[in-house]
Amino acid sequence: MNITVIYDSIYGNTARVASAIAAALEPDNSVRLMPVQQARQADLGTTNLLIVGSPTRGFRPTPQISDLLAGLAPPSAAAEVAVFDTRLAPAAVRPGALRWVVEVGGYAASRMDEILHRRGYVRRGEIAGFLVDGMKGPLKPGEVERAAEWARSLV
Ligand SMILES: Cc1cc2nc3c(=O)[nH]c(=O)nc-3n(C[C@H](O)[C@H](O)[C@H](O)COP(=O)(O)O)c2cc1C
Repeated sequence: MNITVIYDSIYGNTARVASAIAAALEPDNSVRLMPVQQARQADLGTTNLLIVGSPTRGFRPTPQISDLLAGLAPPSAAAEVAVFDTRLAPAAVRPGALRWVVEVGGYAASRMDEILHRRGYVRRGEIAGFLVDGMKGPLKPGEVERAAEWARSLV
């Protein structure tokens, strides 16, 4: 399968997850891993599975990821998408009284899923969110492994 993993990352956590996802898929697939800045020039015509990841910032994906998704060509018949984000672990939301705001506000991956669905893409697998322990990370222990497992569940 031809897989393209596109991600944005400000502090490096989503990049780490994206690399783990690509590494988990590489043995049996042809995988390209690229930051969103490179993705504009990329030809996605032969991609069967497009995996997109973004940090959650203000309940949504980064503007760069949103722009990319809005500008994507309509999917070819064989193309599916999977989405993931990184987000604050509930215990890392301070003060704790804001936890419900963060939950109700929502997360980047569901927004990406909505945009892609509207553009005609079919989702493969579950929407995934990987947890960080603070505004700049790090990822919670075990999240890199969970990302690799999620990736393997997609194929
Ligand atoms: C300006 C800003 C807004 C954020 N908004 C949210 C949010 O709405 N929900 C959430 O769970 N985490 C939020 N976070 C935490 C980010 O999700 C976290 O910085 C991100 O997962 C780190 O990914 P990166 O290292 O790839 O940039 C925010 C962080 C920043 C700096």
